Amino acid sequence: METLPIGQTGLNASRIALGSWAIGGWMWGGSEESEAIAAVHAALDHGINLIDTAPVYGFGYSEEIIGKALAGRRERALIATKVGLDWRDGKAMRNSTPQRLRQELEDSLRRLGTDYIDLYQIHWPDPRVPIEETAEMMAEFLREGRIRAIGVSNFSPEQMMAFSSVAPLHAVQPPYNLFERTIEADVLPYARQRDLAVLAYGALCRGLLTGTVTASRRFAGDDLRNHDPKFRPPRLEQYLAAVDALAQFARARYGESISALAVRWILDQGPTVALWGARRADQLSTVGEAMGWSLDAEALAEIDRILTACITDPAGPEFMAPPARVA
Ligand SMILES: NC(=O)c1ccc[n+]([C@@H]2O[C@H](COP(=O)([O-])OP(=O)(O)OC[C@H]3O[C@@H](n4cnc5c(N)ncnc54)[C@H](OP(=O)(O)O)[C@@H]3O)[C@@H](O)[C@H]2O)c1
Repeated sequence: METLPIGQTGLNASRIALGSWAIGGWMWGGSEESEAIAAVHAALDHGINLIDTAPVYGFGYSEEIIGKALAGRRERALIATKVGLDWRDGKAMRNSTPQRLRQELEDSLRRLGTDYIDLYQIHWPDPRVPIEETAEMMAEFLREGRIRAIGVSNFSPEQMMAFSSVAPLHAVQPPYNLFERTIEADVLPYARQRDLAVLAYGALCRGLLTGTVTASRRFAGDDLRNHDPKFRPPRLEQYLAAVDALAQFARARYGESISALAVRWILDQGPTVALWGARRADQLSTVGEAMGWSLDAEALAEIDRILTACITDPAGPEFMAPPARVA
């Protein structure tokens, strides 16, 4: 497993991390606890040491499962969790007030069964709280030794600059995959320049980039893919055409699967870690295929050509953004 330093913290993360949103069940049509615990153990066995979660994933459930899975194994993992979302009646909203941050830290530590968090990330910027105030709280948590590194998620470079004027910043977590590349214009160059680790979320584009999504696949219950514009006609056809072409290219050129190509592509773009969402052990069996090789310039150009030819009406991940609190 390749590794990447998280800023100057001395922490070294595996370049594939386990994403545990689906493990919480909420917005993924439910989850099964014993399978989820087995997925965490499989991740460790595959050399993954970074596990990304959040309080809002299953309203505490994902963190609880990670806590159970890591009991007796805490030292093998770096836990990355988040702060700054609240929820009511099954709906998430942004809340980074100092009281909320302090409360969430205590709740997360309890659910995770640990007395420190390796990487603590602001989940979404809260337009109702000055970024400097939020940063000051995070700096305090770091000074107290409750957290070991600070990250932000879904922040622009301007917001990161405001944050960094008050607190150290070590990592950023934006959406990034072959189909969602807006960070290449701003966040990625900023991260390179400021020595931030980039935790790319949605690395498999919610399963599309594994080749297992078809036009007839149905998603159960509250699965977010029922509302994802990429997974609905007429765009789905374009994305599936791109998946087919990319899969053929990956096989012919490298003898690899499309998921290996998709993850390798992220890792070749800079100081990145690919967050691989999984809720069952078998979904991680191929993580090793993305290690130990690189895409050359010709391959990168061919991938861009396929994307431009197939996807004429792209859609982004904005549909996932939670709203601000109502006053
Ligand atoms: N900071 C943020 O705002 C934010 C937002 C989104 C995500 N994230 C983080 O990023 C992580 C990754 O993103 P994500 O979970 O949304 O999406 P993802 O990693 O792009 O896709 C995950 C889904 O792909 C499918 N999958 C995974 N491995 C597979 C395999 N080998 N074969 C077939 N299908 C496979 C699974 O869906 P099925 O089980 O349904 O098949 C899985 O739930 C999250 O878990 C979370 O930690 C953060």
